[in-house]
Amino acid sequence: MDQFKDKTAFITGAASGIGLALSKAFAGAGSHLMLADINADALKTVAADIKDIYDVKVETVRIDTGRVESVNAAVKATLGHFPKVHFVINNAGVSLAGRPGQIPAKDWQWITDINLLGLVYGVEGFVPHLLEHGEPSHIVNTASMAGHMASPGMAPYHATKFAAVGYSESLALELANTNIGVSVLCPTWVKSNIHNTSDARPTAAAGGENPTKSTKAYQAIKALVENGMEAETLADLVLKSIAAKRLYIFNDPEARAMIDVRRNAILKDYDACLKDLGIT
Ligand SMILES: NC(=O)c1ccc[n+]([C@@H]2O[C@H](COP(=O)([O-])OP(=O)(O)OC[C@H]3O[C@@H](n4cnc5c(N)ncnc54)[C@H](O)[C@@H]3O)[C@@H](O)[C@H]2O)c1
Repeated sequence: MDQFKDKTAFITGAASGIGLALSKAFAGAGSHLMLADINADALKTVAADIKDIYDVKVETVRIDTGRVESVNAAVKATLGHFPKVHFVINNAGVSLAGRPGQIPAKDWQWITDINLLGLVYGVEGFVPHLLEHGEPSHIVNTASMAGHMASPGMAPYHATKFAAVGYSESLALELANTNIGVSVLCPTWVKSNIHNTSDARPTAAAGGENPTKSTKAYQAIKALVENGMEAETLADLVLKSIAAKRLYIFNDPEARAMIDVRRNAILKDYDACLKDLGIT
């Protein structure tokens, strides 16, 4: 896949899980890396490991993707190190569970800032640069299969991931006549640390009970993540999907049925409403 050789990839959430695997996959394909994560210590270790293995330039920047100033500073730092960026991988994300009436507004704001606005800030920060250099480039926004189907107890995660899918679909239309491709990554379970990310929510500092970890749903999700797809397998699929210019990236044979269930439920009510209106 020559299209990755001697190009530069900016990757958020690069210190763990899917972002880490993506970083290695891009490096393996010959791309230079700007690795960004909120966890600066882990990022340094990851960068050193990658430099040991791959003959590419690797820089790091601490970022909080939920804060526009932090993302803008990371964009500036990236363009200070690399003349051109070709791959913008908005991957950092967090999880948050809880029932209606139990989730503090601050935590809703936190997950929305990171899982939705973090993608927006990355896109807004890099698109002028991508348009200016005009070479083939690609944006990947990490959503989830949770952006195509809903389940109880995970409303903040689903809401932000549905938004990530809708935002990416809109972005793909906006950029259709440019040299910038767009993909939205929609996996189910992948081995990573995602089930622990709600420990960083704002109300955790106040000693509040973690609604994610006190539920049976958390134990189930932890087991599913621990037994999920290897992040490296998903990362290889992402590079293949960029090369194939796919908008959606899925990894699970059971996901098709979930999409059908949602689609059929929507169309059932759609048809019933039109019938009530006497239109059909
Ligand atoms: N693992 C799965 O099963 C799965 C499934 C679907 C989607 N996803 C999505 O994949 C993405 C990556 O998650 P993962 O599974 O690799 O989890 P992970 O916890 O292993 O990695 C997430 C990384 O993001 C970083 N991060 C968290 N908040 C940040 C912030 N505000 N700014 C910058 N970096 C931040 C963390 O430090 C961590 O390194 C997330 O968007 C997640 O929602 C994961």
